[in-house]
Amino acid sequence: MPELDLDDARKRYHFALAPEDYERLPFYSALLALLEDDSLALELLARVRVEQRNPMLILAALHLAALHGHEELGPIYWSARHGQLEDPDGASRVVLEVMHRSPELVGGELWRSTQTNEPGRSAVLQAVIGDLALGSASSINVIDVGTSAGINLCFDQFPVHERDDGNPLTLVCEDLTPIDRSKALPRVLARVGIDPNPLDLERIDDRLWLKACLWPEESRRHERFDAIVAARASWPAATVLTGRATERLDDAFELTDPTAMTVVMNTWVAFYFSDEERSDYFDKLSRRCLEENVAWISVESPLTKWPGIEVDDAARHRGASQIVLTRPGSSPRRWGWCHAHGRWLEQITTP
Ligand SMILES: C[S@@+](CC[C@H](N)C(=O)[O-])C[C@H]1O[C@@H](n2cnc3c(N)ncnc32)[C@H](O)[C@@H]1O
Repeated sequence: MPELDLDDARKRYHFALAPEDYERLPFYSALLALLEDDSLALELLARVRVEQRNPMLILAALHLAALHGHEELGPIYWSARHGQLEDPDGASRVVLEVMHRSPELVGGELWRSTQTNEPGRSAVLQAVIGDLALGSASSINVIDVGTSAGINLCFDQFPVHERDDGNPLTLVCEDLTPIDRSKALPRVLARVGIDPNPLDLERIDDRLWLKACLWPEESRRHERFDAIVAARASWPAATVLTGRATERLDDAFELTDPTAMTVVMNTWVAFYFSDEERSDYFDKLSRRCLEENVAWISVESPLTKWPGIEVDDAARHRGASQIVLTRPGSSPRRWGWCHAHGRWLEQITTP
């Protein structure tokens, strides 16, 4: 049995939140400060397989126990989700005590992977698809690679506004592009997702896990998630294929309508590909775009490198996501930048 690297685990807890999050998330900040100095918490994290050795997995496991109705955790996390937690320091001490009494609450969930599905990215997809389809296609197919729970396959079901209008489904996005959002989006003929570990909003366990991975103090994201779960049954149907991107891409194309343009999209996924898979994916898609009626939208961290696509450092420092668009018959081009959760969007005017 290799020795556990507790020092590495301590650092992971210490750097789990960005500095600007500390004020916004007093409960998670206090909890992480306790976990970082707690030998059981260090051991639990150090035991996790390296690709998932992320403090968010431990936090999500505790949140999951609360969502399952744990007597002490349930009320604490409920208050946090509803902006009513009055004593975050005291609450985090209770969470730590519970974890010591019942370490299996965390230990039993470490097989999972932290997984989210960010609907805010639909605000970005609407804009880029709107730009792509201008004057040409009135119908499209979409293939969402790394679709998670498939929420962004229904990108066209969300209202997008500059300001919050109280509707939990509204995506608030400061759109700095010249794209006219009042124009109708193209009709979507087929919606196909690919993911090696797809989550299903119909399944209670998947729903609870997706919710557990959201930070409890982000009330708006919880409200939106609950509204999506309630609305999903009335949204258009989608097909999700289980498997890795390059394994299932051809199968996904088989499910599309060949008379319409197919838009392939990946949002915060390619970072998880091996170098070989990323290069294979890039080659396959660039070729399809050149030769077929296919477009490709990539919205990824600037740490994801695509051949021939530059990243400018200023944007990287803002932690933004890079949007690369490939139009049918063309090669991939930088299109713009957006907030990782779609809170703002800008288009590059000079390619
Ligand atoms: C950070 S989540 C992003 C999910 C979604 N695209 C979004 O924007 O909310 C990354 C997703 O990529 C999936 N994924 C990881 N490796 C993959 C691969 N090789 N091929 C396709 N999807 C993959 C994961 O299972 C996970 O659902």
